[in-house]
Amino acid sequence: AKNVGILGMEIYFPKRYVDQQELEKFDGVSAGKYTIGLGQHRMAFCDDREDINSICLTVVQNLLSKYQIPVTSIGRLEVGTETIIDKSKSVKTVLMQLFSPHNTEIEGIDTTNACYGGTSALFNAINWVQSESWDGRLAIVVAGDIAVYASGNARPTGGAGCVAILVGPDAPIVLDTGLRSTFMDHAWDFFKPDLNSEFPVVDGKLSVSCYLNAVDQCYRKYIDRFEKRHGMAPRSATVNDLDYFCFHSPYTKLVQKSFARLAFNDFLRSDQPDKWAKIGDLDRFKSMKVDDTYFDKDLEKTFMAVTKDSFKSKVDTSLLAARDLGNMYTGSLYGGLASLLSEVEPTQLVGKRIVLFSYGSGLASSMFSFRVVSPPTDIHRVLNVRARLDSRTRVDPAEFDATMQLREHTHNAKGYSPEGKLEGLFPGTYYIKQVDEKFRRSYGRF
Ligand code: ACO
Repeated sequence: AKNVGILGMEIYFPKRYVDQQELEKFDGVSAGKYTIGLGQHRMAFCDDREDINSICLTVVQNLLSKYQIPVTSIGRLEVGTETIIDKSKSVKTVLMQLFSPHNTEIEGIDTTNACYGGTSALFNAINWVQSESWDGRLAIVVAGDIAVYASGNARPTGGAGCVAILVGPDAPIVLDTGLRSTFMDHAWDFFKPDLNSEFPVVDGKLSVSCYLNAVDQCYRKYIDRFEKRHGMAPRSATVNDLDYFCFHSPYTKLVQKSFARLAFNDFLRSDQPDKWAKIGDLDRFKSMKVDDTYFDKDLEKTFMAVTKDSFKSKVDTSLLAARDLGNMYTGSLYGGLASLLSEVEPTQLVGKRIVLFSYGSGLASSMFSFRVVSPPTDIHRVLNVRARLDSRTRVDPAEFDATMQLREHTHNAKGYSPEGKLEGLFPGTYYIKQVDEKFRRSYGRF
């Protein structure tokens, strides 16, 4: 198939959020730490009525109905998530309730590696449509998580949400073939060894340096390939040759730093020292050991200043959902793409290239891009991200904290009916009705 890419997109996030400024006060940290230091405004969260199955049911049902997709037209459906509630049964099989009995021939299962599973699922789906195994039907990729951390410094970087992507041929948003780059390695930056807990074990500082190293590694390969593809002189391309960027966003400040990091890479690989000399004396950064560069304030400040305007025009628009929802783990990057497509006029996007950086701790990362070949008008209309974010309900931090405790106490419970009130959900949301004595979960739709 030709021009394989994104035909449709839908996002789901919970109705309730906590305000990060109020959370700063509640947690007793200095004013500005979460809002300015981490760049987060609001954080979405779920009570015990929702789990990974229910949020995926909601987003897929909404995708099918909003785009009027017949269930028989889907030939592949897979889920990227790290929110594990069963060691064997995939979320995908739960989603089959939306298709069975009309369509029970749908390939794909779940893919897991921290925040990267959605990207692996997307690559699988696109590869399938491009392959000889393709049967002419469409694919759906679901990427989402309920991201919760133990109380403490990582808690404000939680979040919740889910994105569903319809993949097929002749798309308005087409994957660039031959450009994507990948960097994978073994690291203990963030992992979930304790299946009795929803919380990860996280080494915050290490996770940031792993993320920035992955940015370096993926970008260098991506930009080399970009130059070759476009017949450009080696080491001549920079971020200015690319139109828009979406990053996996654990918190938006890290994305701003990562974009600055791309400019640092442009400087290191540039064959035009005179151009960079105009900005100032940057040579001191050339001789630094790479491990010393990740947290060097002088370097960070310099390249954040270099990219101040380009960050505004190329990146900031994609951070709407990340700032207002928090980290959706696998959904975060695609919430970024959804924000961009929802915020920018569809006709203005035509001819533009969107670069995506995906990172999952542990670690797996890729950089790849899409080109917009025709106005993604339906996607823009359906997503409507800003208005939907603004239609949510603010909950005070004490109630948020109590809800986190409720989730902790009921994690893995059996013979259990959730306490969460249904009014806390958007209409049309799937919720857990009951978990029986054999841990079997049943769902209803509000
Ligand atoms: N006003 C403005 N800024 C402030 C204030 C204030 N009052 N107080 C602190 N800050 C700044 C700090 O200077 C710091 O900025 P910097 O990063 O530019 O130096 C920032 O706010 C954060 O403060 P720290 O003290 O560094 O934060 P802390 O160490 O408590 O926690 C961390 C941050 C490590 C990110 C933590 O939230 C965490 O572990 N999160 C989960 C892991 C994570 O998200 N990793 C990212 C990649 S891996 C992944 O996606 C899961």
